[in-house]
This record gives sequence, C-alpha cells and structure tokens, in this order.
Amino acid sequence: MAIRFDEKDRTITLHTKNTTYQMKVGRYGHLLHLYYGRRLAADMSYLLTFYDRGFSANPYESRNDKTYSMDAIPQEYSCYGNGDFRCSAFEAADNDGVSGCDLRYAGHEVKKGRYAIPGLPAAHCEERASDTLVVRLVDERLPLMVELYYGVMEETDVITRAVCIKNTGKKPVTLTKIASAMLDFTDCRYDLLHFHGRHGNERMMERVPLMTGRMSVGSRRGVSSHQHNPFVILADRDATEDCGDCYGMSLLYSGNFLCEAERDQYSQTRLVMGIGSENFAAVLSGGEVFWTPEAALTYAQGFAALSWNFHRLVRENICRGAYRDARRPVLINNWEATYFDFTGEKIIEIAREAASLGVEMLVLDDGWFGTRDGENSGLGDWYVNEKKLGMSLNELASRIRATGMKFGLWIEPEAVSVDSDLYRAHRDWVLEIPGKKPVMGRNQLVLDFSRPEVVDHVFAQIAGVIAGADVSYIKMDMNRSITDVCTAADGRQNEGEVMHRYVLGVYRFLEMLLERFPHLLIEGCCGGGGRFDMGMLYYTPQIWCSDNTDAIERTAIQYGTSFGYPPCTMGAHVSAVPNHQTGRTASLETRAAVAMAGTFGYELDLNRISEAEKELVRGQIRAYKKYYDLVHRGRYFRLSDPAKQREFAAFEFAAEDGSAALVTVVTLTTHCNAPVSYVRLKGLKADALYRNEQEGGLYAGAALMYAGFPIPVVMQEYASFQWHFTEEKQEN
Ligand code: GLA
Repeated sequence: MAIRFDEKDRTITLHTKNTTYQMKVGRYGHLLHLYYGRRLAADMSYLLTFYDRGFSANPYESRNDKTYSMDAIPQEYSCYGNGDFRCSAFEAADNDGVSGCDLRYAGHEVKKGRYAIPGLPAAHCEERASDTLVVRLVDERLPLMVELYYGVMEETDVITRAVCIKNTGKKPVTLTKIASAMLDFTDCRYDLLHFHGRHGNERMMERVPLMTGRMSVGSRRGVSSHQHNPFVILADRDATEDCGDCYGMSLLYSGNFLCEAERDQYSQTRLVMGIGSENFAAVLSGGEVFWTPEAALTYAQGFAALSWNFHRLVRENICRGAYRDARRPVLINNWEATYFDFTGEKIIEIAREAASLGVEMLVLDDGWFGTRDGENSGLGDWYVNEKKLGMSLNELASRIRATGMKFGLWIEPEAVSVDSDLYRAHRDWVLEIPGKKPVMGRNQLVLDFSRPEVVDHVFAQIAGVIAGADVSYIKMDMNRSITDVCTAADGRQNEGEVMHRYVLGVYRFLEMLLERFPHLLIEGCCGGGGRFDMGMLYYTPQIWCSDNTDAIERTAIQYGTSFGYPPCTMGAHVSAVPNHQTGRTASLETRAAVAMAGTFGYELDLNRISEAEKELVRGQIRAYKKYYDLVHRGRYFRLSDPAKQREFAAFEFAAEDGSAALVTVVTLTTHCNAPVSYVRLKGLKADALYRNEQEGGLYAGAALMYAGFPIPVVMQEYASFQWHFTEEKQEN
C-alpha cells in the first residue's frame, strides 16, 4: 500500500518506488512534516527537536512549555496566525477583514485512484496504480474545511498535491494566499535552481545558494511568463547531474504564481509554491469551494534522475489525447518566411517545396484573418481574410492537403486589437480599468477570459474556422503580459480572483477545443516560450519553446527547459540565416541538429535554399524520423553545462534499455590548434559494445561512459556532430 497511517504514532507515510514522504499529527493537532527523500521504512518523528526558543511563540495549549513553537517545527501546510512567521502557505480573513488562523488536523481518508480538479489540469493515471490521501484541517474560528490532497504516483516517483477549501459557514471568508504545496526541511544545505529569462531567452538555469531570508520567483503577468518558470529544484550544495539529494516542484498552472524559498532563523528551509498572492483574493461565500492548482513533487538522486521523473510524468500523465502517443508531424511554419506578407498562392508555393522534401504539415501563422496585415489590427476578428489569401481557407487547406501535407493554423484567442470589429462591438469584453488608460502590449489588449460569454464567443468563431477548413493543428499564441486586471462582468465583487478565473477561462477554451476536435494537435505559444508550464502541457503536448530560433542560443534555452520538461514538448525549428533574432550564421546541419532535440520543423522558405541544401533537408527529415523514438521516448541526458562549458554544448537521448543513443555536440568556440574535448556518454550498458553509425567505430559502453568520446577539432564555427550509437550484439 502506497499510503500508510500509523495509529500509535499518528504518522502518515507515502511511498513511491524510490521515495518516502512522511507527516505526523503533532501533540496539539498541527500537521507536521517529518521527511521527504530516499525510500525508507522508519518512523522519522525523532527528527523533530524541541528547545526553548525564547522569543518564538507557543500554541495556547503549550503556554507552560516553551519548547513547542510553530515558528521552529517543520510543518506540512503552514498558515498565518499560529505563531509561525515563516512563509505561510495559507492566509485567510473573515468578513470583517480580520486574518489569522490556526489549522489543525480533523481526520484523513485514503482513496483508490486519483483525484480530479474541476476546471484545472491535473496529472492523470490510466493504467498505473495511484492512490490519494486527503487530510482534513479545520480552524477554530474561520468556518473552513481545508483538504490537503496527495496523489501518490508510485512508478514515476512523483507526489502530486492540491488543496480544496470549503466555506462551511454562512458568512463570506476571503482567501488571500493558498499555496498548492509546501516542503519543510530541518536543515539548510540547499541550492535553489530556478529558470529565469526574457522574451527570446527563456528558462536560463540559475543555481544559487539559499541565504538567510527569503528568495522568491514568480509571475504577476497573468501568464506563467518568460521571466520565471513555475518549476524549481532544491538540491544539495554539491548535487550534480548524477548524485545528491534533489527535490523538484512544478506547478500545473499557467497564470500568476509565487514560489518562495526561505532559510529561517534556525537554519531550516522551506519551499512554498502556488497561485501568486499579490493582488489575489478569493471570496468564498457560505458553502463555496475553491481548488488550488496542482503541484507535482519529485525527489531523486541527481538532476538527470529528477528530470527523468518529470519527463515521464509529463509524457505519460500530463499530456493527453491522440497526440500523447501519436507521432507529431514534421512541420513548416511560414512566420519567419513571410511574416504578415503573404497570399494563398505564396503559402502553397512554400508548401509544395516543403512537401517534396518530406515535410508533413504546413502551419499558416499570424495574418490570415480580419484585417491583420501587421501587428496593429485584426485580433479578435476570427474570420478568414479571403481578399488577402485570394481564396477561401478551405481551398487553401485543400490545395495544401493535395501536396500530401496536413494543414495547421495560428490563433491568439485571448487577444483583441483596438482596431477590430470585436473591440468596436464589445468594449466591455476587454480587461480595462474604468478611468485609466489601458497599458498596451504589442499594440493589443486582452479579452476578459474570466467571462464565460467571451470565451464562448471566441470559441464559436474559431471552432467554425477549424471545422470549415478541416484544420489538423492549432498554434495557440498569447502575445502580451496582462495588466489592467478588472472585469466588467456583473457583480464585480470578486475582482481579486479575476486573474485566476481568466486562467480557468483559458483552460475551458482549450478543453472545449479538444472535446470538439479530439484529433487536433495544439501547440502552445506565448511570444515563444512565455507560458511553458505543466498546466499548458495538459492541453498542448508541445509548446513553441522560444521565438529565438538561433541554434546556438537555443542550446542554452533547451538545456534549461529540459530540467523540468521533456524534449518532445519543445517546439524547435530550423530557420534561415543570418538568424532573424541574432544575426548569427550557423550551418544548416547545426541548425537541424539542435532543432531535432524537440518537435522538429522548419521556419523558412525552402524555395530559397540551394539544391544541395534541399538534399540536406531531405536527409534531416529522414534522420529525425529514424531517431524519433529516441528523441520522444528516450532518456535525456545533459552532457554539458553552459555555465561551465564554453567550448561545446552536448546532449544525449538514450534508449531506456540502453541499447542505443543519439549524441549531439555543437561546438561553441573555435581555436587555432585547439585542445581536444571529450564527451562522456550516459545510460549505456557498461559491458556492451556500440557501433557509431556515422564513423563506423566499435566501442565498449564502459569506455564511452567512463573515458568519453573525442570531439573532432574542425576549422569551422558552430560545427555540429550527431552520433548514433547502437548496441552490437555479441556472439558467445
Ligand atoms: C508570436 C509567436 C511567433 C509568431 C508571432 C505571430 O511572437 O511566438 O512564433 O507566431 O507571434 O504574430
């Protein structure tokens, strides 16, 4: 049984295949955290220490015993008001605005199977066993039932958490902070790994030692953002890819979030993650329920194993629908080939050439609708601009299908241009604050997706277009941060919850798309990778990783992204040179080698390359198809660290059984008479022999892993090498 309750010690223990998580009901009913880490079978209550902490406060019941303080004891879900002054997971106020509570254990329940969260993404588990623990907490004063949900996914070593809060009274209660998960540690030997960035430079990994005090990352941009990602790792100071305690926490949420890491006065550590609490307030009337988004937790030895746990979780238990397992088509997107300047004939010309080289789908990007000839107009008017196309969308789609390719389309449902029919007809459907000029972003505004009628209207328009042209794929974009958070919806009493309800509206839109078009492949996008999170991956099994298509910068972007997300979720395309974002020129081989570490495609006009390059493209598509299973289902290993390794970037996909590996190396510098670098492979069988398909050599697995493979010295900038090693069966 994955979940055990020990009556005598009042401990609750969760086991996955390799990890153990333990909590305990303390002597006054507080839910205390005991342990998370390597699997073990022991009562970890002895880890709790009790000292007179002088100025640290004590619960009323222990007023004569100063050794019991909520400010020092590790907890499972801390709240503001019970003497714990560290980051709280939960804060609530009564109808008069008086905050402060003291949550205590009121029972628990173990359920077979997984829980679901209404309107929000949550990991699913069809075939494998997964049990649910629900621990109930109540407060003496506020009429609240706080239920902590724990999903135990034994095989993947993941524990999911979510919280459901019910107002059991009659008067409204306001929730001002409601984290999805919290982890307490009795020591402080940790670094925080977080993934920051900006547009075109997302998820740069930064590793910092935790200092006394708090460090937080988060978003108040309405989307999870380019700037910070709702995924972090706490790791031993000396943890590496291969060893050391590593804890991953990832929020399945695509809106405002807050992650706080704190080292407290007694050198203990706390990690809290959930919906961003700034400008947040959810008013719960009597009987109403609020669910937090889900958080996924994993523990592993080393970053590689931690990533593997989350990669499997995303691939198998978060992605859904036909394209969870179905092969994703190699696509060509016209954005960098034409931007807004195209006609239907131009698109068909691009499609024909691409099809002849082996590309499987054409995606028509921004500009096919309304009066959208540039950034300043047309968003919100989801009717086809037949004048611009010179034909109907259905004709365009049919002619593209006649080349043997599928047809995909770009949309940005949440956006509206001031110069649009939608804005002229429904000014109150926009997020705007009366009396304040709205902040513009890419010269567009944001529709109020917290209102069901707005979502329904946009959905009806877009669904009509998809059905009318038999569209196979949608790139769902969102091109600005959200400001001016204010709904004009009736009632208006819940302004503090608008951003959350907006996210629920986005999820509902996506859910409706998938329900109506179960075979639709949706690729997420937000100015590139500004909404790359596990929440979106529940609806969109791939996400455009970044608007930056420069192969060299992409090695760092894809490196950072890979800590929490599998390569099969990262949209990656070969684009033209000089690169439109950086001006850099890398060879076609190098651009493809980097793009092949994701959902592969092209983003240029293939009519404009030479015959020799076309031949290369044919070969690249063949290679990608050949390596597809390794890339999409293999184990991913980061073989270099951009912070330490300036000479090259290297990564590997290894078959789960170690029988094959695809290694990619991209050189980043070039030197006269350069020293030789070696790349050490991982995930092979030490005692097996491997043939290198590209240069023909036969090597022992142990040699490739322990001594490495030499990277050729070539006189070329940004050279790349792809080596496919396959196990050579040995005769006895
Ligand atoms: C965003 C996307 C791009 C492209 C443009 C179109 O920036 O990330 O890939 O679709 O919008 O406007």
